[in-house]
Amino acid sequence: MSVVSINAADENIAKKICKFPYIIEAGSNYIKHKNFVIIENNINVYKVYNDINNFKECVYKFNWAHDNLINFLTPTIIDSFVFENKGILKLKFIKKKNNQNIIEMLDVFFNIMTTIKNIEKIPHPNFFKSYELQSEYEKIFKDKNLILTHGDLNHKNIFKTEDNKIVIIDWDNLSLQPQKLVEHTTALYFLSHPDFHNKNFPSILKIVLDKFKNVTINKLINLSEKKYEISVTHFSKNFWKNMAERIKLV
Ligand SMILES: Nc1ncnc2c1ncn2[C@@H]1O[C@H](COP(=O)(O)OP(=O)(O)O)[C@@H](O)[C@H]1O
Ligand SMILES: [Mg+2]
Repeated sequence: MSVVSINAADENIAKKICKFPYIIEAGSNYIKHKNFVIIENNINVYKVYNDINNFKECVYKFNWAHDNLINFLTPTIIDSFVFENKGILKLKFIKKKNNQNIIEMLDVFFNIMTTIKNIEKIPHPNFFKSYELQSEYEKIFKDKNLILTHGDLNHKNIFKTEDNKIVIIDWDNLSLQPQKLVEHTTALYFLSHPDFHNKNFPSILKIVLDKFKNVTINKLINLSEKKYEISVTHFSKNFWKNMAERIKLV
């Protein structure tokens, strides 16, 4: 499952803590932070954190989400503990529905963004001194108006269950970010669904621009190019480069 190779010591953690067969998901978070995810037999999910302070922050964020996101499902925390100097967050696995209607998800993305932004009980301010790659994004979005955001609203982190409940996972990047950055990122991540990488892209982009009134084509291109520049895997590098090209063609 992993897109990057993971070292033997980390792989051993999975062997020691899992009773059932498991798969390991390691991607850019492994390259950037040595963090990875173990999915045990579609029963448990273990998020493994290399930095204990970051682990504590993330446990707090998952708890905060579970307490405050009333209209959406968020993972239930089963346990959190330190094991071989890694922070481990054990979550209940939530099963994804097979055939998702992607266009219908546009409203879902927009509603989630708006709901989180409007939550009054904001998390502890200590956890919001900065957001990941802040200095890079500030080069494009100088907006002083900060809003609360999930921080990684993409179609892998938002999905529906068989009984059509909307699930939001991966709360590690919950943060205060410039409103314009949040709007452009949410629109761009919606557009990044693999189903849209075809000749219908211009019409999907038009629907997205109708929904996100503050989003402009130029800034979407700037953001894609920035993501290309800061990507740590070849896969994401190519992905964001192609995305910028696709938008430029419209
Ligand atoms: N509670 C969960 N239920 C089902 N699948 C999950 C759950 N948590 C994580 N996953 C799966 O593991 C993947 C990686 O987990 P995620 O929390 O998004 O970590 P990352 O920070 O690496 O993106 C997700 O894309 C999803 O497929
Ligand atoms: Mg994720």
